Amino acid sequence: MDEYSSLNQIKLISNNTKLSTELDIELLILNLLSIDKNILYRDDPRLSSEKLKELKELVQRREKGEPLAYLVKGIGFWSLDLYVDENVLVPRPETEIIVEKVLEDFNASEKKVLDLGTGSGAIGLSLSKERVGWEIYCSDKSYKALQVASKNMQSNSLNVSFIHSDWLEAFAPETFDIIICNPPYIDPDDPRVHSDGLKFEPISALTSASKGLNDIEIVISKSSERLVNKGSLYLEHGYDQSQQVQSLLEKYNFSDIRKFKDLNGDDRVCSGKIKKC
Ligand SMILES: C[S@@+](CC[C@H](N)C(=O)[O-])C[C@H]1O[C@@H](n2cnc3c(N)ncnc32)[C@H](O)[C@@H]1O
Repeated sequence: MDEYSSLNQIKLISNNTKLSTELDIELLILNLLSIDKNILYRDDPRLSSEKLKELKELVQRREKGEPLAYLVKGIGFWSLDLYVDENVLVPRPETEIIVEKVLEDFNASEKKVLDLGTGSGAIGLSLSKERVGWEIYCSDKSYKALQVASKNMQSNSLNVSFIHSDWLEAFAPETFDIIICNPPYIDPDDPRVHSDGLKFEPISALTSASKGLNDIEIVISKSSERLVNKGSLYLEHGYDQSQQVQSLLEKYNFSDIRKFKDLNGDDRVCSGKIKKC
């Protein structure tokens, strides 16, 4: 039976492909053989003909732009290892800003928190790991996303409640201290939606009508009703939407509005507090 050196294949394949870097192929091999990096470089395990064929098929999918996270069925986010598949958005590094800011703003004292549009569970589960005393609810309109998030809760030994809901509809008359949301915010006419990475992700996680602002406005208006007095809303938005998001927060009576930048220096997260008379 033919066998092939893993380390040679990393070099060979990456030299013959456009998108797949050595690191991508290394990760695909680690996943395919269920080994860690030390073993790969210490033992240079052999790939059987079948495994090499599987590897080449995965590389072909990567070459068509499929996110590496879908091919290896996982990604690191905050301090968690999350399972992801085509039913959820691949959690992005910029979304860690929301987790970081919420943790900076609130200590461990008890809070009731809602992660709206939880997808893989990235935000709600990360907060649950850091703040064990918080009562955390994670919701999504997609049942398949909730299944992924639930799998991630179990694999990370965490405890949150999952609720199927169209934004806040299922929650009346519940109220929360903190609501967090990374909603779909891309204009459906934006050509990026059809670009390599994004075209494999669920469209319902990406685009929103009214130039990407429709869901943001729904979340802001409904959150203003479901937050306790002085409760806080944290929202991720597009790199060029910060001014419109600020105006919407003001329209629905939010004050203390703050903006946070991503690693590119673009405003990416807005927060505000609701004042009820
Ligand atoms: C941009 S993704 C964010 C996923 C995850 N929170 C993250 O940050 O990686 C938006 C999420 O909102 C969900 N969503 C879209 N429309 C929704 C609605 N009307 N009600 C509830 N969730 C919705 C999508 O299914 C998707 O999981």
